[in-house]
Amino acid sequence: MPYKDKISKEKLPAHIAIIMDGNGRWAKSKGKFRIFGHKNGVKAVREVSEACAEIGVKNLTLYAFSTENWNRPQAEVNALMELLVKTISSETKTLMKNNIRLNAIGDLKSLPKSCLTELNEAMEKTASNNRMNLILALSYSAKWDIIKSVKSIAQKVKSEKISINDINEELFTSELSTHKWPHPELLIRTSGEHRISNFLLWELAYSEFYFTSTLWPDFTKEDLYKAIVDYQNRERRFGKTSEQLTKDEN
Ligand code: IPE
Ligand code: IPE
Ligand code: MG
Repeated sequence: MPYKDKISKEKLPAHIAIIMDGNGRWAKSKGKFRIFGHKNGVKAVREVSEACAEIGVKNLTLYAFSTENWNRPQAEVNALMELLVKTISSETKTLMKNNIRLNAIGDLKSLPKSCLTELNEAMEKTASNNRMNLILALSYSAKWDIIKSVKSIAQKVKSEKISINDINEELFTSELSTHKWPHPELLIRTSGEHRISNFLLWELAYSEFYFTSTLWPDFTKEDLYKAIVDYQNRERRFGKTSEQLTKDEN
């Protein structure tokens, strides 16, 4: 039975986050340059976005470029930015067709101007689409976002808009650039790496993690469905005991 048919519609995650990793190794294994891997990674982005929209996942966040990725060789950074511009402009039509809204989180003003223009255009065009949110993390790191939020809260205290006692989880969450969406229930990382790489540190506090050795360009709809089925077979206890959860259900 295909994994898609094993998915229970009642237990769908409202938000899936993915660390798309392994493009470079995929290319290397084929004797090609790293950028060849990035180009082939775009197909997987399309597959996964479509798959999420089809089954009814409402929010999908993709880690596309981290703050730390600026430290890669300049030629790779340039090629990645160029690919980003091209992809955003060529995919807008598909986003419209599939009723998907494009959003972005990260230090967007650090992106090259052409990239930012293309991104803003696509975000504006798709702004009233409501089937699914596709959130690209670009020039993003969770520590960057957390520091930004701390500064904003400190400023509000200083100008006496709020008092120190108003600071709680809810207020902090509302300051993060992810505040519009629920926190991801499921995090997927491809390529066999078992680390978080400065992604959504706050938001992933109680997420289920799913790791696969599949390299990102090889990741298919069926791989996504498999991850969702795995997620649905887990017991999320949030600090409680298993017995408490079964009692709550009855
Ligand atoms: C992920 O693939 C894409 C980005 C980080 C932009 P990598 O480029 O990290 O591929 P590997 O990890 O070197 O194989
Ligand atoms: C994480 O991948 C960032 C993205 C997927 C965009 P990296 O390949 O950059 O992560 P590390 O540095 O190996 O942890
Ligand atoms: Mg990598």
